[in-house]
Amino acid sequence: MSQIEKKFLETFGEEPDLVAAAPGRVNLIGEHIDYSDGFVLPFAIKDRTLVAARKRNDSTVRIASAQRRNKIVTVDINQVKPGLKGEWERYALGVLWSMGVTEGVDLMIDGHVPLGAGLSSSAALECSVATAMNHLFDMGFNLEELARLTQKAENQYVGVPCGIMDQSVSLMATQGSALLLDCRDLSTKNISFDVASHGLELLIIDTQAHHALTDGGYAERRASCESVVAKLGISSLRELTMEQLEGSRALINETEFVRARHAVTEMKRVLDCVEALNVSDFEKVGQLINQSHISLRDDYTVSCPELDTAVDAALSAGALGSRMVGGGFGGSAIALIQASKTTETIGAIEKAFSSKGFKAPRFFTSLPSQGAELISRR
Ligand code: GLA
Repeated sequence: MSQIEKKFLETFGEEPDLVAAAPGRVNLIGEHIDYSDGFVLPFAIKDRTLVAARKRNDSTVRIASAQRRNKIVTVDINQVKPGLKGEWERYALGVLWSMGVTEGVDLMIDGHVPLGAGLSSSAALECSVATAMNHLFDMGFNLEELARLTQKAENQYVGVPCGIMDQSVSLMATQGSALLLDCRDLSTKNISFDVASHGLELLIIDTQAHHALTDGGYAERRASCESVVAKLGISSLRELTMEQLEGSRALINETEFVRARHAVTEMKRVLDCVEALNVSDFEKVGQLINQSHISLRDDYTVSCPELDTAVDAALSAGALGSRMVGGGFGGSAIALIQASKTTETIGAIEKAFSSKGFKAPRFFTSLPSQGAELISRR
């Protein structure tokens, strides 16, 4: 019996019907453009969230977490609606609600995606629960539908106005590849991301900074993009070229202009990055990653001193490219480095953090890993 099956048995007194898993993610490039119908290029990391589930024959939902030993949340499925108060379990309950689950279920969650590091532990939780429910109740949703339903759970139940990237990659990723995701129609293409055979490594730097601004800042950026779309009478920033944006300057304010400039240039960088990866031109990939960071820092203003320090220190230590990833205002950065320079780069970043009096960062590496899957079923 696996660890999670044992925990399920200890907690609920029976064995689970099935176990599912879904990973967190990093994003190589294509930041803050999923909600503007852009292309993004994330990959799934090896750390994932497991969920063991068992059907009940009443309408009770019980949720326990291996990380919170003494607490079992119990609620009637008919009460699971947006507005119901709660903590972390809202991510799981939101998915039951958005998927239209009407029967009782016992769930044991075991999360291994670092929390608060900008690596999408929330999407991993949502997508592991969604995968489990889809199998447990034979709901027959495809991956696009599950991505939209888990995003709906986070938007409408949890109340976070996130885009579709994190849930999509957690569900759709394939081992060994980054996922080129077209956020307009959720079509995908696997892009081989084999840095190891080129002597490279993608270092993930969790700055351990969490700025209180996060939620409001994210919503404000989204609102700026939506305002540009409304003022220019287009359906999304995907339709806009730099020439058109320059030509429309008089119709929008300066802040809206620079926010839209980030979106338009970032969409192009994603496609350029795919071309560079296709010919294993990692110098070029590094340059595009750097340009993405500069655009996020200066035009989109979602970076923070800790992220900029990590990026600058990685580049000074010889990284090919480095940038913040995810929503920003804290969380993680990535650095594409020579594998032989990993220790040196980590040392340089640690030194830069300590000289500025920042909390010590954490470091991870991960190859592109598999998306959500059913692990076992009785
Ligand atoms: C968060 C959101 C995503 C995306 C990124 C920025 O991770 O959940 O939808 O917008 O920020 O690229």
